[in-house]
Amino acid sequence: MNTIGVIGYGNMGSAISQRLKLKYKVLVFDKDGLKTKNKGIDIAGNCADLARQADLLVLAIKPQDFDSVLAEIKKQAVGKLVISIAAGISTAYIENKLGKVRVVRAMPNLPAKIGQGMICLCKGKFASDSDLDFARNLFGNLGKTMQIEEEMMNAVTAISGSGPGFFYYLIQNQQEDEWQKYAQQVFMPQLSASAEKLGFSHEQALLLAKATTVGSVALLKQAGLSANELCRQVASQGGTTEAGLKKINDIMSLPDATAAALKRAEELSKKE
Ligand SMILES: NC(=O)c1ccc[n+]([C@@H]2O[C@H](COP(=O)([O-])OP(=O)(O)OC[C@H]3O[C@@H](n4cnc5c(N)ncnc54)[C@H](OP(=O)(O)O)[C@@H]3O)[C@@H](O)[C@H]2O)c1
Repeated sequence: MNTIGVIGYGNMGSAISQRLKLKYKVLVFDKDGLKTKNKGIDIAGNCADLARQADLLVLAIKPQDFDSVLAEIKKQAVGKLVISIAAGISTAYIENKLGKVRVVRAMPNLPAKIGQGMICLCKGKFASDSDLDFARNLFGNLGKTMQIEEEMMNAVTAISGSGPGFFYYLIQNQQEDEWQKYAQQVFMPQLSASAEKLGFSHEQALLLAKATTVGSVALLKQAGLSANELCRQVASQGGTTEAGLKKINDIMSLPDATAAALKRAEELSKKE
């Protein structure tokens, strides 16, 4: 692997780029040049320029920005592995826009910033098992990985993708000793039960809940940022976490928040 190109340098794109940069050559592009300026990372001139120079593309843009970005990189993406981390965008949707391109879909979470993320992956119809293995190894640099069926991607978005945002929101007024206890005794079991309700097996639910809770706690301890600020970084505008947070605000229920996040992921879904 020579160069990894990351399109979108927001909350997740920057976390992924900064982490992968420790091991790989990473090139990034964000349409807001201020986000990438002086960040110690190589910057491409635009999406097409980045796609031309990179051997593998990571799409870290919001679902609503997909159509324009896919149109911009269509020519250059031919023959390259394309990894999308967006909520709701199916591999078939990307294949329909880009043609016979090898696509892997991944759902990371914010603790990927410190290598303690939970990343679930699946592959599209033109990607091979070795593409998926490669992507799993790559994302192994960002945390724990789990292969899932694509039909469970929206559910995983609601549990491990949005989960850190729910955690940071729920503990924002607590002292450290309180939130440490809350994480283990309340949040993790509730998140695991919510995951089972959304269709995961007991083992999968436990893994997702444990990795999400442990990663969220570790990031809060290490990042030097408030729970409030970390919550803001998870909740991209119009996204699944924002939808779940509205529910938490109304009735303080984690299962209802994850159900609202799942509903939003389904609304955002672009299947074909
Ligand atoms: N945040 C999370 O914890 C999380 C977790 C898992 C998955 N995700 C997924 O990751 C994706 C990104 O989320 P995020 O929270 O990182 O969002 P974000 O902070 O808004 O980052 C997206 C970035 O892409 C930029 N962008 C938009 N159109 C572009 C274009 N044509 N070319 C280059 N850059 C462009 C945006 O610029 P503007 O702001 O100027 O539009 C923004 O800087 C989403 O699809 C989300 O579903 C997020």
